[in-house]
Amino acid sequence: MRPTFFHHLHPPTIPARQARFRYTLAAGGLAVFLMLILLVTGILEMFYYIPTPDQAGNSIQTLVFLVPFGALVRNLHYWAAQFLVIVVLIHLLRVIFTGGYARPRRFNYLLGMLLLVIVVFLDFTGYILRWDEGIRWALVAGTNLVKSIPLIGNGLYTLLVGGSQPGGATLIRFYSWHIFGLMLPAGILVAWHLFRVRRDGGIAVPPAALRKDHARISRYELVRREVLAMLLALAGLLLLSVFVPAPLAAPLTATSPLGETARAPWFFLWVQQMLKLGNPFLWGVLVPVAALVLLGLIPYIFPHPSGAELGSWFPKGNRFAQLIAGLLFLAILILTALALLPAS
Ligand code: HEM
Repeated sequence: MRPTFFHHLHPPTIPARQARFRYTLAAGGLAVFLMLILLVTGILEMFYYIPTPDQAGNSIQTLVFLVPFGALVRNLHYWAAQFLVIVVLIHLLRVIFTGGYARPRRFNYLLGMLLLVIVVFLDFTGYILRWDEGIRWALVAGTNLVKSIPLIGNGLYTLLVGGSQPGGATLIRFYSWHIFGLMLPAGILVAWHLFRVRRDGGIAVPPAALRKDHARISRYELVRREVLAMLLALAGLLLLSVFVPAPLAAPLTATSPLGETARAPWFFLWVQQMLKLGNPFLWGVLVPVAALVLLGLIPYIFPHPSGAELGSWFPKGNRFAQLIAGLLFLAILILTALALLPAS
């Protein structure tokens, strides 16, 4: 039989340690599954969504209140997107806290970083498509950050927003970015990322000569575990989507004011909190980009774990990288919590 992409990802047997839940947390696999859910529900939403300022909000209301199972489809899309951001962050932390990015996996780590950025911007552009009262911070303050970039800021802003202020052109641009500019590259990058996982010898474990545990599992066992994880994730997602609706406020109108209390989407609350410190270019652009660059450079500037240390949590060899990533995430969590405190 000719080997397929599926066979490439599922060799006849693999070391059992590569498929242990307590090692991978199943986060990478769950991210793939959530992306599939997003693709299917996103395509279904496209049949009803109208990307014009006077119709967008109403078309979502139609989908939610009039179309059979429309609310379920929208809720599934919304919750899968929120969990995707969380699951990808957990996956990133697990890769750093196990040193899984060490050579030869450095390039795949960079592909992963690119995916992280795309996933966050997919969530951000999708959020704008709601075109309701709730998106005002993202639409006005969020896009204004682009203007703060010296020299190219104004040009970039016009390119992004389609004019000197948000309007009809903005919505169609975010719609195109959401579907073609981000989802399409995300699909290609995920396939490449998965291909590389196997090309690099599967998930990082010690080389055979240094391995104490020689147990292996078959392709069938691997698929059985993957299907089980997917069914459990689907059951959880369905339960949540049936009982907890995705947020939806009154459609945005030209006269809707940008209130003082407008909040950023949850994944940008830390940036909104930093902006209170002053200079928007420094706190809203430079610091977040610097944090991203620092994370991306981890496999290139910090020591790697030794071969024997691979396949387990918190190896001694890359303690410094663990510390840096841990502190960075702690800072983001604290800033997010501060942003959620009621304004005094
Ligand atoms: C949509 C986003 C992503 C998807 C769908 C995805 C998917 C996967 C899958 C299925 C695996 C193998 C199973 C596992 O390790 O859990 C994997 C491994 C890996 N991923 Fe990702 N990933 C994503 C984002 C990232 C990010 C943000 C990074 C880090 C910057 C990253 C870096 C890696 C590395 C280095 C490996 C190999 C780990 C090892 O061998 O221990 N990935 N990814």
